[in-house]
Amino acid sequence: MLDHNPKIFTVGIFDSGVGGLSVWKEIIKIMPFNNYIYVSDSAYCPYGPRPQSEIIDRARTITTFLIDKGADIIVVACNTATAAAIKTLREEFTIPFIGMEPAVKPAALCSKTGVIGVLATKGTLSGTLYNQTLKTYANGIEVVEREGIGLVALVEEGKLNGDETDRLLREYITPMLEKGADQIVLGCTHYPFLLEAIKQITGNNVEIIDPAPAVAKHLYDVLEHMQGDKLDYEQFKSTKTTMFYTTGNIETLRGMARRIMPEIEDEKFNAADF
Ligand code: DGL
Repeated sequence: MLDHNPKIFTVGIFDSGVGGLSVWKEIIKIMPFNNYIYVSDSAYCPYGPRPQSEIIDRARTITTFLIDKGADIIVVACNTATAAAIKTLREEFTIPFIGMEPAVKPAALCSKTGVIGVLATKGTLSGTLYNQTLKTYANGIEVVEREGIGLVALVEEGKLNGDETDRLLREYITPMLEKGADQIVLGCTHYPFLLEAIKQITGNNVEIIDPAPAVAKHLYDVLEHMQGDKLDYEQFKSTKTTMFYTTGNIETLRGMARRIMPEIEDEKFNAADF
Protein backbone atom coordinates (compact mmCIF):
# COMPACT_ATOMS: atom_id res chain seq x y z
CA MET A 1 0.00 0.00 0.00
CA LEU A 2 1.15 3.53 -0.72
CA ASP A 3 1.50 5.72 2.36
CA HIS A 4 0.88 8.82 0.20
CA ASN A 5 -1.57 9.70 -2.56
CA PRO A 6 -0.46 7.97 -5.73
CA LYS A 7 0.53 10.40 -8.46
CA ILE A 8 -1.46 10.08 -11.63
CA PHE A 9 1.01 10.62 -14.44
CA THR A 10 0.34 12.47 -17.65
CA VAL A 11 1.86 10.48 -20.47
CA GLY A 12 2.37 12.16 -23.85
CA ILE A 13 2.41 9.82 -26.84
CA PHE A 14 3.12 10.79 -30.41
CA ASP A 15 3.50 9.34 -33.87
CA SER A 16 3.54 10.56 -37.46
CA GLY A 17 -0.08 9.45 -37.60
CA VAL A 18 -2.47 6.88 -36.17
CA GLY A 19 0.18 4.13 -35.88
CA GLY A 20 1.13 5.03 -32.31
CA LEU A 21 -2.38 4.07 -31.26
CA SER A 22 -1.13 0.46 -31.47
CA VAL A 23 1.26 1.40 -28.65
CA TRP A 24 -1.37 3.41 -26.72
CA LYS A 25 -3.59 0.32 -26.87
CA GLU A 26 -0.96 -1.79 -25.07
CA ILE A 27 -0.21 0.99 -22.56
CA ILE A 28 -3.82 1.45 -21.45
CA LYS A 29 -4.21 -2.32 -21.12
CA ILE A 30 -1.68 -2.39 -18.29
CA MET A 31 -2.12 1.20 -17.03
CA PRO A 32 -5.75 2.31 -17.39
CA PHE A 33 -5.27 4.87 -14.62
CA ASN A 34 -2.99 7.56 -16.10
CA ASN A 35 -3.80 10.64 -18.14
CA TYR A 36 -2.81 10.26 -21.77
CA ILE A 37 -2.35 12.85 -24.51
CA TYR A 38 -1.95 11.44 -27.99
CA VAL A 39 -0.62 13.50 -30.90
CA SER A 40 -0.99 12.29 -34.47
CA ASP A 41 1.17 14.34 -36.82
CA SER A 42 -0.86 13.25 -39.84
CA ALA A 43 -0.25 16.47 -41.78
CA TYR A 44 3.42 15.40 -41.99
CA CYS A 45 2.81 11.66 -42.41
CA PRO A 46 4.71 9.64 -43.53
CA TYR A 47 7.92 10.56 -41.70
CA GLY A 48 9.82 7.68 -43.35
CA PRO A 49 11.04 9.49 -46.48
CA ARG A 50 11.64 12.86 -44.75
CA PRO A 51 15.13 14.16 -43.89
CA GLN A 52 16.25 13.58 -40.31
CA SER A 53 16.40 17.33 -39.59
CA GLU A 54 12.73 17.74 -40.46
CA ILE A 55 11.68 14.80 -38.25
CA ILE A 56 13.71 16.31 -35.38
CA ASP A 57 11.90 19.65 -35.88
CA ARG A 58 8.50 17.96 -35.78
CA ALA A 59 9.45 15.91 -32.70
CA ARG A 60 10.68 19.05 -30.94
CA THR A 61 7.47 20.97 -31.72
CA ILE A 62 5.25 18.11 -30.57
CA THR A 63 7.31 17.61 -27.40
CA THR A 64 6.96 21.29 -26.50
CA PHE A 65 3.19 21.04 -27.03
CA LEU A 66 2.95 17.91 -24.85
CA ILE A 67 4.99 19.47 -22.06
CA ASP A 68 2.75 22.59 -22.18
CA LYS A 69 -0.21 20.24 -21.76
CA GLY A 70 1.39 18.77 -18.63
CA ALA A 71 3.20 15.64 -19.85
CA ASP A 72 5.49 14.06 -17.24
CA ILE A 73 6.98 11.61 -19.72
CA ILE A 74 6.78 11.11 -23.48
CA VAL A 75 6.49 7.91 -25.48
CA VAL A 76 7.84 8.33 -28.99
CA ALA A 77 5.42 5.78 -30.45
CA CYS A 78 7.07 5.86 -33.84
CA ASN A 79 10.11 3.84 -34.86
CA THR A 80 11.13 6.40 -37.45
CA ALA A 81 10.96 9.35 -35.04
CA THR A 82 12.77 7.32 -32.38
CA ALA A 83 15.58 6.59 -34.83
CA ALA A 84 15.78 10.18 -36.05
CA ALA A 85 15.10 12.28 -32.98
CA ILE A 86 15.12 10.62 -29.56
CA LYS A 87 18.79 11.36 -28.92
CA THR A 88 18.24 15.08 -29.61
CA LEU A 89 15.04 15.14 -27.54
CA ARG A 90 16.88 13.63 -24.57
CA GLU A 91 19.62 16.25 -24.93
CA GLU A 92 17.22 19.21 -25.22
CA PHE A 93 14.44 18.36 -22.74
CA THR A 94 14.63 17.24 -19.14
CA ILE A 95 11.59 14.94 -19.01
CA PRO A 96 12.10 11.22 -19.75
CA PHE A 97 11.43 9.74 -23.21
CA ILE A 98 10.56 6.15 -24.04
CA GLY A 99 11.27 5.12 -27.62
CA MET A 100 10.43 2.17 -29.84
CA GLU A 101 12.95 -0.67 -29.87
CA PRO A 102 13.25 -2.72 -33.04
CA ALA A 103 12.34 -6.21 -31.72
CA VAL A 104 15.32 -7.92 -33.33
CA LYS A 105 16.49 -9.48 -30.07
CA PRO A 106 13.37 -11.59 -29.32
CA ALA A 107 13.07 -12.51 -33.01
CA ALA A 108 16.69 -13.70 -33.19
CA LEU A 109 16.39 -15.59 -29.91
CA CYS A 110 13.18 -17.36 -30.93
CA SER A 111 14.08 -18.18 -34.53
CA LYS A 112 14.54 -21.87 -35.25
CA THR A 113 15.42 -21.37 -38.90
CA GLY A 114 18.03 -18.68 -38.22
CA VAL A 115 16.21 -16.34 -40.59
CA ILE A 116 14.12 -13.35 -39.51
CA GLY A 117 12.23 -10.72 -41.48
CA VAL A 118 12.09 -7.03 -40.60
CA LEU A 119 9.42 -4.79 -42.11
CA ALA A 120 10.04 -1.10 -41.40
CA THR A 121 10.42 2.32 -42.98
CA LYS A 122 13.53 3.52 -44.76
CA GLY A 123 14.30 5.90 -41.87
CA THR A 124 14.25 3.05 -39.35
CA LEU A 125 16.24 0.57 -41.45
CA SER A 126 18.98 3.09 -42.17
CA GLY A 127 19.14 4.42 -38.59
CA THR A 128 21.97 3.83 -36.13
CA LEU A 129 19.67 2.38 -33.46
CA TYR A 130 18.43 -0.43 -35.69
CA ASN A 131 21.87 -1.19 -37.10
CA GLN A 132 23.44 -1.32 -33.65
CA THR A 133 20.65 -3.64 -32.50
CA LEU A 134 21.41 -5.92 -35.45
CA LYS A 135 25.10 -6.00 -34.58
CA THR A 136 24.39 -6.80 -30.96
CA TYR A 137 21.61 -9.36 -31.29
CA ALA A 138 21.52 -10.76 -34.80
CA ASN A 139 24.97 -12.24 -35.08
CA GLY A 140 24.79 -15.36 -37.22
CA ILE A 141 21.16 -14.67 -38.12
CA GLU A 142 20.06 -13.94 -41.67
CA VAL A 143 17.95 -10.79 -41.64
CA VAL A 144 15.65 -10.14 -44.60
CA GLU A 145 14.70 -6.45 -44.55
CA ARG A 146 11.95 -4.80 -46.52
CA GLU A 147 10.81 -1.18 -46.60
CA GLY A 148 7.04 -1.16 -46.24
CA ILE A 149 6.59 1.55 -48.90
CA GLY A 150 2.95 2.63 -49.05
CA LEU A 151 1.75 0.69 -46.00
CA VAL A 152 1.63 3.69 -43.65
CA ALA A 153 -0.58 5.57 -46.13
CA LEU A 154 -2.95 2.59 -46.40
CA VAL A 155 -3.31 2.41 -42.61
CA GLU A 156 -3.93 6.18 -42.46
CA GLU A 157 -6.71 5.67 -45.02
CA GLY A 158 -8.17 2.85 -42.93
CA LYS A 159 -7.44 0.28 -45.66
CA LEU A 160 -6.44 -2.50 -43.30
CA ASN A 161 -7.29 -5.23 -45.79
CA GLY A 162 -8.40 -5.47 -49.40
CA ASP A 163 -6.60 -5.98 -52.70
CA GLU A 164 -4.15 -3.10 -52.56
CA THR A 165 -3.07 -3.86 -48.98
CA ASP A 166 -2.76 -7.57 -49.75
CA ARG A 167 -0.70 -6.91 -52.91
CA LEU A 168 1.84 -4.71 -51.12
CA LEU A 169 2.12 -7.00 -48.10
CA ARG A 170 2.71 -10.00 -50.37
CA GLU A 171 5.40 -8.12 -52.24
CA TYR A 172 7.27 -7.39 -49.00
CA ILE A 173 6.63 -10.58 -47.04
CA THR A 174 7.04 -13.23 -49.75
CA PRO A 175 10.84 -12.75 -50.01
CA MET A 176 11.07 -13.24 -46.23
CA LEU A 177 9.09 -16.46 -46.39
CA GLU A 178 11.08 -17.70 -49.39
CA LYS A 179 14.28 -17.32 -47.38
CA GLY A 180 12.72 -19.32 -44.53
CA ALA A 181 11.95 -16.56 -42.01
CA ASP A 182 9.98 -17.90 -39.04
CA GLN A 183 9.86 -14.53 -37.20
CA ILE A 184 8.76 -11.23 -38.70
CA VAL A 185 9.42 -8.02 -36.79
CA LEU A 186 6.97 -5.18 -37.28
CA GLY A 187 9.33 -2.22 -37.19
CA CYS A 188 6.69 0.47 -37.64
CA THR A 189 3.85 1.19 -35.25
CA HIS A 190 1.34 1.42 -38.10
CA TYR A 191 1.86 -2.22 -39.09
CA PRO A 192 0.13 -3.98 -36.14
CA PHE A 193 -3.11 -2.66 -37.65
CA LEU A 194 -2.33 -4.93 -40.63
CA LEU A 195 -1.82 -8.03 -38.48
CA GLU A 196 -4.82 -9.91 -39.83
CA ALA A 197 -3.86 -9.23 -43.43
CA ILE A 198 -0.26 -10.25 -42.67
CA LYS A 199 -1.37 -13.52 -41.08
CA GLN A 200 -3.41 -14.35 -44.17
CA ILE A 201 -0.08 -14.39 -46.01
CA THR A 202 2.20 -15.99 -43.43
CA GLY A 203 -0.19 -18.55 -41.96
CA ASN A 204 0.30 -19.70 -38.39
CA ASN A 205 3.86 -20.97 -38.57
CA VAL A 206 5.46 -17.56 -38.57
CA GLU A 207 5.63 -15.44 -35.41
CA ILE A 208 4.76 -11.78 -36.00
CA ILE A 209 6.50 -9.61 -33.41
CA ASP A 210 4.99 -6.31 -32.33
CA PRO A 211 7.28 -4.47 -29.89
CA ALA A 212 4.40 -2.45 -28.37
CA PRO A 213 3.73 -4.72 -25.34
CA ALA A 214 7.42 -4.57 -24.39
CA VAL A 215 7.42 -0.77 -24.75
CA ALA A 216 4.31 -0.54 -22.55
CA LYS A 217 6.01 -2.70 -19.91
CA HIS A 218 9.10 -0.50 -20.08
CA LEU A 219 6.93 2.59 -19.52
CA TYR A 220 5.30 0.82 -16.56
CA ASP A 221 8.71 0.16 -15.00
CA VAL A 222 9.89 3.74 -15.53
CA LEU A 223 6.70 5.21 -14.02
CA GLU A 224 6.97 2.86 -11.07
CA HIS A 225 10.47 4.14 -10.54
CA MET A 226 9.25 7.76 -10.81
CA GLN A 227 6.46 7.00 -8.32
CA GLY A 228 8.87 5.31 -5.97
CA ASP A 229 6.30 2.60 -5.34
CA LYS A 230 4.00 0.05 -7.00
CA LEU A 231 1.62 1.34 -9.68
CA ASP A 232 -1.35 -0.50 -8.33
CA TYR A 233 -4.17 2.06 -8.45
CA GLU A 234 -7.34 0.07 -7.92
CA GLN A 235 -9.38 3.26 -7.52
CA PHE A 236 -8.44 4.68 -10.94
CA LYS A 237 -9.90 2.21 -13.41
CA SER A 238 -10.91 4.75 -16.03
CA THR A 239 -9.16 5.81 -19.25
CA LYS A 240 -11.59 8.67 -19.84
CA THR A 241 -8.72 11.09 -19.62
CA THR A 242 -7.06 10.38 -22.97
CA MET A 243 -7.06 13.50 -25.14
CA PHE A 244 -6.30 13.23 -28.83
CA TYR A 245 -4.78 15.88 -31.09
CA THR A 246 -4.05 15.75 -34.78
CA THR A 247 -2.38 18.05 -37.28
CA GLY A 248 -4.41 16.26 -39.96
CA ASN A 249 -7.87 14.82 -40.31
CA ILE A 250 -9.79 14.43 -37.03
CA GLU A 251 -12.11 11.84 -38.55
CA THR A 252 -9.19 9.54 -39.38
CA LEU A 253 -7.84 9.68 -35.84
CA ARG A 254 -11.29 9.26 -34.29
CA GLY A 255 -12.09 6.28 -36.50
CA MET A 256 -8.86 4.47 -35.62
CA ALA A 257 -9.00 5.27 -31.89
CA ARG A 258 -12.57 4.01 -31.73
CA ARG A 259 -11.53 0.69 -33.23
CA ILE A 260 -9.61 0.28 -29.98
CA MET A 261 -12.00 2.05 -27.60
CA PRO A 262 -15.44 2.58 -29.16
CA GLU A 263 -16.82 4.69 -26.32
CA ILE A 264 -14.44 7.68 -26.60
CA GLU A 265 -16.47 10.89 -26.72
CA ASP A 266 -16.30 13.31 -29.67
CA GLU A 267 -14.94 16.16 -27.56
CA LYS A 268 -11.76 14.21 -26.80
CA PHE A 269 -10.60 14.75 -30.39
CA ASN A 270 -9.01 18.06 -31.27
CA ALA A 271 -7.23 19.80 -34.12
CA ALA A 272 -3.64 20.84 -33.46
CA ASP A 273 -2.20 23.72 -35.44
CA PHE A 274 1.55 23.43 -35.21
N1 DGL B 1 4.48 4.78 -37.22
C1 DGL B 1 5.69 5.23 -37.84
C2 DGL B 1 6.84 4.30 -37.46
O1 DGL B 1 6.72 3.58 -36.47
C3 DGL B 1 5.42 5.44 -39.27
C4 DGL B 1 6.55 6.03 -40.00
C5 DGL B 1 6.21 6.99 -41.09
O2 DGL B 1 5.44 7.92 -40.86
O3 DGL B 1 6.78 6.81 -42.16
O4 DGL B 1 7.88 4.26 -38.05
